[in-house]
Amino acid sequence: MPDPTNESLSGKQPPTWQPQLTQDGSFTFFSETFGEAFHSSQGAKTEAFQKFAAATQLAEQARKPSLRLLDVCYGLGYNTAAALETIWQINPHCQVEVYGLELDPTVPLGAIAPPLLETWSPPLQTILQSLATSQQAQTPSLNAQLLLGDARQTLQQVRAIAFQADAIFFDPFSPRRCPQLWTVEFFQGVADCLASTGRLATYSRAASVRSALQLAGLQIGSIPLKHSESSHEWSQGTVAGFEPQSDALSPMEQEHLQTRAAVPYRDPSLSDSMEEILERHRQEQGRSLLESTSSWRRRWGIH
Ligand SMILES: C[S@@+](CC[C@H](N)C(=O)[O-])C[C@H]1O[C@@H](n2cnc3c(N)ncnc32)[C@H](O)[C@@H]1O
Repeated sequence: MPDPTNESLSGKQPPTWQPQLTQDGSFTFFSETFGEAFHSSQGAKTEAFQKFAAATQLAEQARKPSLRLLDVCYGLGYNTAAALETIWQINPHCQVEVYGLELDPTVPLGAIAPPLLETWSPPLQTILQSLATSQQAQTPSLNAQLLLGDARQTLQQVRAIAFQADAIFFDPFSPRRCPQLWTVEFFQGVADCLASTGRLATYSRAASVRSALQLAGLQIGSIPLKHSESSHEWSQGTVAGFEPQSDALSPMEQEHLQTRAAVPYRDPSLSDSMEEILERHRQEQGRSLLESTSSWRRRWGIH
């Protein structure tokens, strides 16, 4: 399989993004390169509010005079937009600083075309337009920058200024499709940008992701389901920080971390291709003496 990271900006015709309706009435895109939608089909906007703004406790944090946000894989900008809407609803004077990291400039540009932009209030529309077209947005309450390129490199700019985020939205395509951004080494860099009281949120509940977060020195918790869906659903994602997390993992989730599924992805030089990272992971899983994930599934009745 070709490496999507290298292929996506290789000078071919830029993709024309076709908006796809999700169940809450907001739109998402589908990436042919990565073979995945950008958001859950249950609702792109709902996902931004529930799995990112709420999971990082932004409504509570918004009482502070200032907040710093790091949006890893900015995409259409929904996580940044939902965060700003949440914060300013509670405290319109909160000063917010945002860094967004995104590989493909055509994605934020696609997101400011109708009908997508109308999802957001007029002030948010102006901010999303400015970020997409000039990679920055400044208002009396906001200083936001969008850094274009591979997040493994652009993160180094954020580290260099010792940025300490109160909330990190971690939203790459899934580990199988984009393992470059789910490695222990990348999480170590991301953790360097997290304030001691800050929280990182991701939609992934994969054991490989959770163990990588732990190896990067973070304590993890679950994002509980709103209502139990089916027997293969057990969480909406993961939160992480330097402090213990309020929604602890269930015994089933803890045991998941003792199985072969918990072997993390690694990228020692932060420059390997998708194929190299997947192959290293496959070999490490093959050598692993951990319990097989299928017996864990059988034990807990997960289909
Ligand atoms: C699941 S989408 C993110 C959705 C986004 N958070 C939103 O709310 O619209 C993943 C994004 O990661 C970007 N991406 C893929 N590889 C990347 C890389 N190596 N560095 C930075 N961004 C990357 C893709 O272009 C895509 O926009």
